[in-house]
This record gives sequence, C-alpha cells and structure tokens, in this order.
Amino acid sequence: MIAGYPLKAHNTFSFDVRAQFACRIEREEQLLAAVRDPRVAGLPRLVLGGGSNVVLTGDFAGLVLLVALRGRRIVREDADAWYVEAAGGEPWHEFVAWTLEQGLPGLENLALIPGTVGAAPIQNIGAYGLEMCERFASLRAIELASGEALELDADACRFGYRDSFFKREGRERFVITSVTFRLPKAWQPRAGYADLARELAARGCAANAGQTDDATGAAAPAAPTAQAIFDAVVAVRRAKLPDPLELGNAGSFFKNPVIDAAQFDALKHREPELVSYPQADGRVKLAAGWLIDRCGWKGRALGAAAVHDRQALVLVNRGGASGAQVLALARAIQQDVREKFGVELEAEPVCL
Ligand code: EPU
Repeated sequence: MIAGYPLKAHNTFSFDVRAQFACRIEREEQLLAAVRDPRVAGLPRLVLGGGSNVVLTGDFAGLVLLVALRGRRIVREDADAWYVEAAGGEPWHEFVAWTLEQGLPGLENLALIPGTVGAAPIQNIGAYGLEMCERFASLRAIELASGEALELDADACRFGYRDSFFKREGRERFVITSVTFRLPKAWQPRAGYADLARELAARGCAANAGQTDDATGAAAPAAPTAQAIFDAVVAVRRAKLPDPLELGNAGSFFKNPVIDAAQFDALKHREPELVSYPQADGRVKLAAGWLIDRCGWKGRALGAAAVHDRQALVLVNRGGASGAQVLALARAIQQDVREKFGVELEAEPVCL
C-alpha cells in the first residue's frame, strides 16, 4: 500500500491528482488484505482499471485499488459457442485482438475501446452496432465487505445501454476479477453501423453478405471477415476519437439520450436533420454528439477543457485542465442542449 500515490497515469484525462492510499492488485488475495488494512478503515474506495471512464475532480481521500489481474484462456466449447475468460486487469483491446488470433470472432466491433476487461461490464461497453452484453456469459466478482466471491450471469448484472447493476446498487461494492464471454460459432458480420459500413465499402467489403445483384447479375462485394471489421473499426475510431495518450479524454462524455415518441416528433419537425435511432419500446435515442454540434460547441474550449473538434460528444484535456474545469464545460453544454432542445444530457463517466 502506497500513501500519496499519483493518479495521473491512471486516468485517461491525465488529471494530476493523488490518492491518499493506493494498492496494486496482481493476485486476488491482495484485495482483501488491502481493504482490511487498518490505515484505510472507514475510508471510501475506488476501483480503477484503465481509468478511462472516470473524472477525478480532486485528490481522492481514500483507498484506490489498481486492478492488475492478468490472464486469459479458452474455457470450453459446446456445439454452439466458444467460452473465453479474461482476468479483470487485462487490457480490453489486447484481449479482443487475442480472441481473433485464436480464430474466435464475435468481439471485433468493440476493438480499440480503452480500459480493462473488468471495467467492460460495469458500463456495458458498446460500439458500432454491438454491446458487450450480447457476448457476455458470466463474471466473477469479490464483494469487498464480506470477501465473498460471486458468480453473476447476465440477468444478475442487469445490463442496459451504458448501464448495469455495478453502476447502481453495486457501485464500489465489488471488484470484478474475471469475465467469461460466449462467442457463438454461427458468426455473422455486424456491419450495418453507418460509419463502419462506409469504411468497409471503401475497403471493398459489403455490409451485407456476398449476394448477387438481381438486376445486373454482378456479384456483390465479399462479406467482411471478423478481421476486416476489426481493422475498419480501428480505422474509424482513430479518425474520430482522440488517443488518450495524446489528448486526455474519457470517450463519450454523455450518454445518447432516449426520449418519448411525442417529444421526438415535435423535435424532428423543428430539426429535420436530427440523428435518431428508434428503440424497441417505441422511444427514440438521439445522437447527443449531433445535438452538441448543432449548438455550436464542437472545437470550443473553456480554458484547457475543450470539445473535441472531430466528435462533439468527447470532451478533452488540452493540457493542464482540471476535472472541475471539464465538469464546468460539461454543465455549460448540458444547459445549452436543455434550452435549445428540451433534452437532458446525462454524463457517461463516473464523476468523483
Ligand atoms: N454527430 C455529429 N456531430 C458530432 C458527433 C456526431 O453530427 O460532433 C452525428 C454523426 O454524424 C452521426 C451521429 O451523430 O450521425 C452519431 O455519431 P457517432 O457515430 O460518432 O456515434 P455516437 O452516437 O456519437 C456512440 C457511442 C460511442 C461509440 C459510437 C459508435 C455513446 C454515448 N457513444 O457515439 O462510444 O464509439 O457510438 O458506436 O453511446 C463511448 O462510450 O465512450 C464511445 C466512444
């Protein structure tokens, strides 16, 4: 356990703050030893993986657990699927790349997402037409208060859009030590997301499988392989999203808001270009990036905290910004979007 531990390298915004105590967890046994240390009795706790979904607004007066549990393996297969397991501290992107090297497709749409495997279920990471929960089998977690190890299935995790049990009742109560994924053998490319389909087309792949054009008889371009989707997702992300090592950020700063059909109809009438995705329950999800962009925020800054110039949903630290400055910028954006569109934007990262 280290006192006064610098967290700059442990949060992707690169905020220069410290933890009162921090402990690097490489083996499960270290977890309980750390939380039962008398020096941290009664103090708040923070579990950090890659620190890619957190806004640290100041020093943390408590214990930070730096999850560095490693390991990954193919657990088993049945007639329909392969099951692969990775430890909570495995870097997510390296794990996805490894599954493809093993010849196991299914996670390719989630390439290049920063952070760790253990953090993935907490906000149910998603991108380019796939959410993690669609490939999730179970996870193993240690409850810090009791030291008990639990196995949770998808129902118990209560996944939603960028949401799970671990963001609500389970918040800061558990450490996810490993996650098992189910990768169906009947793999189908998931290539319909607009940006991804465009990138694949530019690479000579079709979003829909190699059918023949009825009118001309010409063969359509080949369906993409999982590797082609992986490569295309990496290219799209690199083009739009800043690399946290170069420009501090936590990915999307806001969730895409979901509104009811009546509010959507009224808004769409006023703003015909509005980007939207109908939901199964009749409600409509809006592209928050579009709303923020439309308010004129793209590329604008408040001090060193700025709105990324290629994706308005991403707030960045141009160098030396504090968490408080980023939150001030976020509040100004929320207020503007509320006044212009009557829509509430909810922050996506955990703000401390
Ligand atoms: N748009 C604009 N201006 C902008 C940004 C977006 O007009 O500045 C428009 C785009 O043209 C597009 C639409 O808004 O029509 C959606 O944009 P995009 O495809 O970039 O995706 P997003 O909805 O802004 C979500 C996720 C991302 C994920 C992408 C791709 C959330 C909160 N964000 O962003 O996830 O990579 O879709 O699937 O759901 C993250 O969670 O950190 C993250 C990066």
